[in-house]
Amino acid sequence: MKDANTLSDYQHVRLLAIRSLFEIIEQSSEGTVIVDKDARIVWMNERYARRYGLEDAAQAIGLEVEKVIPSSLLRQVVETGQPILLDMLDTPGGPLVVMRLPVHDDAGAVIGAIGFALFDQLQNLAPLVTRFTQIQKELASTRSLLQARQAKYNFAHFIGASAASLEVKRRARRGAASESPVLLLGETGTGKELLAHAIHSASPRAHKPFVSVNCAAIPETLLEAEFFGTAPGAFTGADRKGRPGKLQIAQGGTLFLDEIGDMPLTLQSKLLRVLQEKEFEPVGSNEVRRSDVRLIAATSLDLEAAVQEGHFRADLYYRLNVLPIQLPPLRERLDDLPALCEAILDELPGHHELDTEARALLASHAWPGNIRELRNVLERAALLGDEPLLGAAALRSAIGRLCPLPSSVVSAALPTVTGDFHSAREAFERQLIQAALAEQAGNVLEAAKRLGLGRSTLYKKMVALGLSS
Ligand SMILES: Nc1ncnc2c1ncn2[C@@H]1O[C@H](COP(=O)(O)OP(=O)(O)OP(=O)(O)O)[C@@H](O)[C@H]1O
Ligand SMILES: [Mg+2]
Repeated sequence: MKDANTLSDYQHVRLLAIRSLFEIIEQSSEGTVIVDKDARIVWMNERYARRYGLEDAAQAIGLEVEKVIPSSLLRQVVETGQPILLDMLDTPGGPLVVMRLPVHDDAGAVIGAIGFALFDQLQNLAPLVTRFTQIQKELASTRSLLQARQAKYNFAHFIGASAASLEVKRRARRGAASESPVLLLGETGTGKELLAHAIHSASPRAHKPFVSVNCAAIPETLLEAEFFGTAPGAFTGADRKGRPGKLQIAQGGTLFLDEIGDMPLTLQSKLLRVLQEKEFEPVGSNEVRRSDVRLIAATSLDLEAAVQEGHFRADLYYRLNVLPIQLPPLRERLDDLPALCEAILDELPGHHELDTEARALLASHAWPGNIRELRNVLERAALLGDEPLLGAAALRSAIGRLCPLPSSVVSAALPTVTGDFHSAREAFERQLIQAALAEQAGNVLEAAKRLGLGRSTLYKKMVALGLSS
């Protein structure tokens, strides 16, 4: 009864509450800082000073508060006279809940401000701090993901106004507007990867991640985990916690499957399920996950032939082949050469140009490496050429071995035929692969690119021909 009377006396309760409020704040204060009306620190407790890397609080006295606590809002409190009752402050040791109050003189003028950073001894703030930390983490990871996963190119980067190029761009734009898979076909260096980026950039998924997987560059045993991720506990060591796969990382965006012709058959059937049912299971888990990705696949292999030979599933091929885009080799769109050269030379230092003979020489080469080769040749020539005008001689040496355009190439490339068709073909393949390997100093990946083959296809051929060491 006595307590009830005490509690109904407002003035008395107010005094009790002020006392208890200050006790709580004092007990849970990790840091207290007081600033004058110019927001210079006049007092700070030792513990808070050490949190900000100072040896002792005396070092902070007289400094502008932001010099010590970069994101402090005490200056705003002094300037406006308004308190900031509850806020979160990111500090070097983790986030703290802070309370900032103006300090008035007897006449009511603001003469400074006091800030309390509350250390959560009482655990009352734990839910708030946890939530804040979680949101901060999500924000940071989303930011870095988006930065790393944004497409590098758009349609403006795809140079070419020849009929063949315009048709490619027309189909690619149609692909961008739809949700169906797009299949990019074409020799090495024709711009499949560039176009995949451009399609994503022009699609409604542009602000979501663009994630690539090179099916030829990842060992078969790791590809499935790379793709679908791993469940917690499925592996020991670093992967024990489970790891998201590319499919999850690309969620909502675009998954680019480069060199899809080199995808192992086991994985092909799992990919088919993603396409048909829009679901998958991380390695080592029975949990079925939904997937929302748009697929763009690319290959320089002849997929139809791979289907015939049993290396590629026919059903997957038909699923992927909804909107095929065939990128023409450079030799079939020589009209684009001048524009391509100009665009590439513009990007290079030195502002080089080509003279008439140089242009004629470029138009007589068959460009087995297509636009990648053109870029390398121009880069090499620009690097060596001191004069702004590049002549035929400079390009001739930058090209290395000139491949004359078809009519003359056929007879030059035909091997002397001995034995039956089979052994002649073997001899030709051996010769061709040996030449490509020699040219690329034994680098199989580069030799494969040069030949327009996937790396694993070239390996298989080398093994069959007894060329591998
Ligand atoms: N139409 C184009 N306009 C400008 N640059 C292009 C064009 N096509 C390709 N390139 C450039 O040529 C190089 C090779 O292109 P990209 O990597 O897209 O080829 P690719 O078809 O994926 O080759 P590969 O099969 O060897 O992987 C890149 O530097 C790319 O920017
Ligand atoms: Mg590529």
